[in-house]
Amino acid sequence: MSIHIEAKQGDIADIVLLPGDPLRAKQIAENFLEDVKCYNQVRNMLGFTGTWNGMKVSVQGTGMGMPSISIYTEELVRDYGVKTLIRVGTCGGLQPDLGLYNLVLASAASTDSSMHKRRFRGMDYAPWADFGLLSAAYEAASKKNLPSRVGGVISTDTFYQHDPDEWKLWAENGILAVEMETSALYAIALRNKAKALALLTVSDSLVTGELTSSEEREKGMLAMVEVALEAAKK
Ligand code: HPA
Repeated sequence: MSIHIEAKQGDIADIVLLPGDPLRAKQIAENFLEDVKCYNQVRNMLGFTGTWNGMKVSVQGTGMGMPSISIYTEELVRDYGVKTLIRVGTCGGLQPDLGLYNLVLASAASTDSSMHKRRFRGMDYAPWADFGLLSAAYEAASKKNLPSRVGGVISTDTFYQHDPDEWKLWAENGILAVEMETSALYAIALRNKAKALALLTVSDSLVTGELTSSEEREKGMLAMVEVALEAAKK
């Protein structure tokens, strides 16, 4: 047991998929895994373990934002020895050629949070994805003909920005998309010698103002989970 996860040792697989929404974790477990067992209900942040094509896999909700994902991923790697962490989430597209439902594979994650600055005594730290997972996911997405892009994302602390044009600075400097968790996930994985990758479906575009419906988002999510599982298998 850890502070926020009530699983026993051995209940959680070495490979964990990480959606933000705990009900999405349930849905992924029900759609993709066999012999599913729920190992966490603390704070309703549901976690499940099952098998996919014979491979033991867990799915753990993380909540939104870097403080929340940090709690769950720290406990997964430190207290349960998890080795592979794959975030399956959504992002806002910052580039004009990035369409809704395109897949973003985050090779690195900048942030407007002070999290890394605090740890690195004012210096910048640029956390990155595990290259093996990244290349396996890219290959899996290509095989499925899923339009996908590899590049940097920005993990923001504020979904609602005071300055509505703030995202343009990131866009002008090559950042593909905005979300709220990956920079913390990568830093925690790197510090604990675990592998991490964030796969992000574009759910809205800050360039065009387009938005997906929740029904359509679900379809995009399912394709992304297949890519995550294929990448984890390698
Ligand atoms: N901003 C921040 N996080 C997000 C967004 C967004 O537009 N879309 C999905 N996650």
